[in-house]
Amino acid sequence: AGLVAGDQGFGQGAGAPAAGSAPLTILFGSESGNAEGLAEQLKEAASAEGFACQVLDMADAKVASLAKAENLFVLVSTWGEGEPPSRAADFYDEIMGKDAGKLEGVNFSVLGLGDSSYTNFNQMAREFDKRIEELGGKRIFDKVECDVDFEAPYAGWAKGAIGKLKEIAKPAAAAAAPVSEAAVPAAPEKPAYNKSNPFPAKMLKSFNLNAEGSLKETIHAEISLEGSGLTYLPGDALAVVPENAPDLVEEFLAVAKLDGRENVSFKDELSVPFGDVLRRKLDLRTLNTSILKKYAKACDHKKLLEIASDKKTATDWIWGRDVVDLIKEYRSSLRAGDWVHLLRPLAPRLYSIASAISAHPEEVHLTVGAVRYETNGRAKKGVCSTFIADMWKEGSTAGVYFHANKNFKLPADPSTPIIMVGPGTGIAPFRSFIEERVATGATGENWLFFGDQRRDYDFLYQGEWNDYLEKGALQKLDLAFSRDQEHKIYVQDRMRENGKELWQWLDRGAYFYVCGDASRMAKDVHTALLEIVEEHGGMSAEDALAYVKKMTKERRYGRDVY
Ligand code: 2AM
Repeated sequence: AGLVAGDQGFGQGAGAPAAGSAPLTILFGSESGNAEGLAEQLKEAASAEGFACQVLDMADAKVASLAKAENLFVLVSTWGEGEPPSRAADFYDEIMGKDAGKLEGVNFSVLGLGDSSYTNFNQMAREFDKRIEELGGKRIFDKVECDVDFEAPYAGWAKGAIGKLKEIAKPAAAAAAPVSEAAVPAAPEKPAYNKSNPFPAKMLKSFNLNAEGSLKETIHAEISLEGSGLTYLPGDALAVVPENAPDLVEEFLAVAKLDGRENVSFKDELSVPFGDVLRRKLDLRTLNTSILKKYAKACDHKKLLEIASDKKTATDWIWGRDVVDLIKEYRSSLRAGDWVHLLRPLAPRLYSIASAISAHPEEVHLTVGAVRYETNGRAKKGVCSTFIADMWKEGSTAGVYFHANKNFKLPADPSTPIIMVGPGTGIAPFRSFIEERVATGATGENWLFFGDQRRDYDFLYQGEWNDYLEKGALQKLDLAFSRDQEHKIYVQDRMRENGKELWQWLDRGAYFYVCGDASRMAKDVHTALLEIVEEHGGMSAEDALAYVKKMTKERRYGRDVY
């Protein structure tokens, strides 16, 4: 087999398509790899149409170099409450800043990845779209915003945007034909199992890691991959396709005054019982301002229309309420078929993998915090975490597929030391990391910071850490049990206490990882890291910031936060 088009590295000089094909820069900003994966797909699709594509990570991008781009397609995800992916933060600051320069006459289009259950939905896509135009760019195809599900909106956007580009940029016709034929065998192999075709995986064993009396419920789940041929790397995530709890479905049907046996059409199925669709396909939990608005209109509730018409009022009202709460407070006359269109699809959830396949052949393990709470006078349950805890019984199957995370990987050199900070369920990927390092005989030192509420109840995988310490597989274990004393002690406090040694490890090239709560913990750990680099590295605050930014760019500071 000779060289095929997709292997030629268009835009890199050697083997570029026939002279005259138009250049296309594909710029992505990605946290967990979705936007990056789509950027690669886009490169394939546009190359097949004869464009000379260059894929560029925002982590390596400068506005000045983009000014020379003729055509620019941007794929960017929004994180947390409207933030850029961490590796894209510098580029974001640069392009939004006063001295950004110009992108005069650059043809562009933006695709956004986001989740409408967070405020500031697709904020990054909106800001980039607006800003590139302000800097002189010419929007050739309207921005598309994905809401959790991205494959279908991506496909529509890519088709439209490439089509538009073909009209105006005219790739060399002669180059287009042979390239599109050759590009077919060049397409990288798609994973055997994915969102539209998950693998039915059997639960082998699951139990609560917390002791009786704990305020937490953390499930350790061991799942079989037998017969799938699937594999994964430490740092990757597993997507689990949940089902809604039967009692929630019953509650919904009762308040909506509908019958689950009624048949509805759903996607390409013309006739399915509504109860099945509720159970397996629709998100009965998440309300957002768009659902609220549509519901208010459909039911013509005056008061609710008023609430829904103002974003802040609507967001405040939604807090702590789910779809059943909504119907209870504002009765509806919607029919089953209306609900199918109104509600969001039930999305799979990603969990950081807690095992290494080298240690557990044909298995994948998860560490899942079961979410249960009460708001608005009703008990609420996290959809997927309680699906795993209550419904995915030993011996039964559920759909899964893998999700690679390029930005959270063990160092390529097995002798490199690593520092891991993983309180609560944030411990998951570090169990995987250590298992892998032990199984492969890696010689690099391992330092783990773990924290949770109370030692006697919440010391997750305690026996395993003790074994690793004894065997010399774990060099340091620092624990922060926040509620075992009057004042709180957190992982970042332990980091500070060990600041001098932590800096020595970093100075020797150690990788630094943090996993767990994004809203507070990861931010506080980040601040502690900066302070340690400043104090013990003898740097100014500015230099410490540059040092940590460089670590991020070099993928030496891994963050898996949620
Ligand atoms: P707390 O619940 O007692 O406040 C895992 O959930 C552990 O993370 C718990 O011990 C929890 O403590 C702790 N935690 C809560 N907020 C934190 C923060 N901002 N930084 C670090 N750890 C935190």
